[in-house]
Amino acid sequence: MNRTTPRSQWASRIGFVLAAAGSAIGLGNIWKFPYITGLNGGGAFVLVYLGCILLVGLPIMMAEFLIGRHGQKDAVGSFASLAGERSPWRMVGWMGVFTSFLLFSFYAVVAGWSFDYIVRSATGAFQGKSADEINAIFGQLVTSPVQVIFWQAVFIVATVGIVVGGVRGGIERWSKILMPLLFLLLLLLFVRGMTSPGARAGLEFMFRPDFSKLTPNALLDALGHSFFTLSLGAGTMITYGSYLDRKADLFTLSLRITILDTLVALLAGLAIFPVVFAAGLEPSSGPGLVFQTIPIVFSALPFGSFLAVLFFLLLAFAALSSSISMLEVSVAYLVDEKGWGRTLATSLMGFFAFVIGIPSALSFNKLAQFTPFFGRTFFDFVDKLVSSYLLPLGGLCVALYAGWFWKADAEKRELTGDGDRAWIYPLWHLLVRFIAPLAVVVILLNQAGLFG
Ligand code: TRP
Repeated sequence: MNRTTPRSQWASRIGFVLAAAGSAIGLGNIWKFPYITGLNGGGAFVLVYLGCILLVGLPIMMAEFLIGRHGQKDAVGSFASLAGERSPWRMVGWMGVFTSFLLFSFYAVVAGWSFDYIVRSATGAFQGKSADEINAIFGQLVTSPVQVIFWQAVFIVATVGIVVGGVRGGIERWSKILMPLLFLLLLLLFVRGMTSPGARAGLEFMFRPDFSKLTPNALLDALGHSFFTLSLGAGTMITYGSYLDRKADLFTLSLRITILDTLVALLAGLAIFPVVFAAGLEPSSGPGLVFQTIPIVFSALPFGSFLAVLFFLLLAFAALSSSISMLEVSVAYLVDEKGWGRTLATSLMGFFAFVIGIPSALSFNKLAQFTPFFGRTFFDFVDKLVSSYLLPLGGLCVALYAGWFWKADAEKRELTGDGDRAWIYPLWHLLVRFIAPLAVVVILLNQAGLFG
């Protein structure tokens, strides 16, 4: 490795905020948040989710940024420079590299569907079709191995194309294009939702809490999702934080990123639920909510094809800016620790993710009946492994390191610099020391089936 070349940094604060918000805002916000809100009965779930974001998500995000910024290296290298070259804490970094790579491999499969849906909507494939016919189109897509793998490959190539360009020229530049476009499209669909006949029902569903609908499982869903949606526990925010300069105010920046992520999830809900109610569909239809109900809803509206194209474009942009952050974790590891060139590291990891992702792509068709993984398909297995175990475990380790093991004076200096906003440190420290770890332990025990 050429040690005289300075390591890359973000060109601007706003570029960093958009890139990190781009990582956070993804399929989690637009595809998953609406359907889990639907399954968990709306308002009360939304409140709990907001609480988890503020009390657990935000503090852990700050911890990841602090670790990365202090270490000025990839996830493994950052732990090595904080805790020592031989420290077992480096395991947390390796786990992050592994987790984000695995996540990328199956995320690309679902993201690929959104590419397919852009083309279908643009060519009017949903126009004038009945609900059953539209459901059949979804079925036909996912059961066709060739189509799914084709779009998965296209999506990975797009991701690699951006990450090869580096931190400034690739990730930051593209985030500055994709994110504003995404906000614009979302605002348009939000206005469409608010002017649809279902607006009232949609608003009430999302904001009138009915606490009788709150099950213990809803609490855990809310907590688990707050990790996923903020891209925590997989080394992603450590890696992004490592490209920050010493002076950046991490509390303010994390707060902005968290607010943007939350705003997009809420706007996505407010764009989707009104049209769902106006069309008399069920909000609790599950993972198919977006892919199956959106075309149904839009096919019946004036300018329906156009709106559907916008919607799936939005989904694709959101997924792309998230997947580049997943790929960057392993690329940064290979570049920083092994001295590889960026182009080689990115292309190779992209290719491996494609290969490892093939059984995920085939889980909806050729391998749908192949379930040796605790009775699950390969896709369901890796999804469960990553979302329910590896992410919370990664987040737990980060909280424990920041809460109990990092030397307080160094940590405090990293967070508050020359003493601006000194009040934030004790509050943050309390959250990462006690509240966040406790919450995560509860999720993990629940996932392991301890609470039935
Ligand atoms: N946060 C993204 C979403 O909501 C997904 C994501 C990107 C992610 N990078 C991550 C999730 C790292 C966990 C860890 O879709």
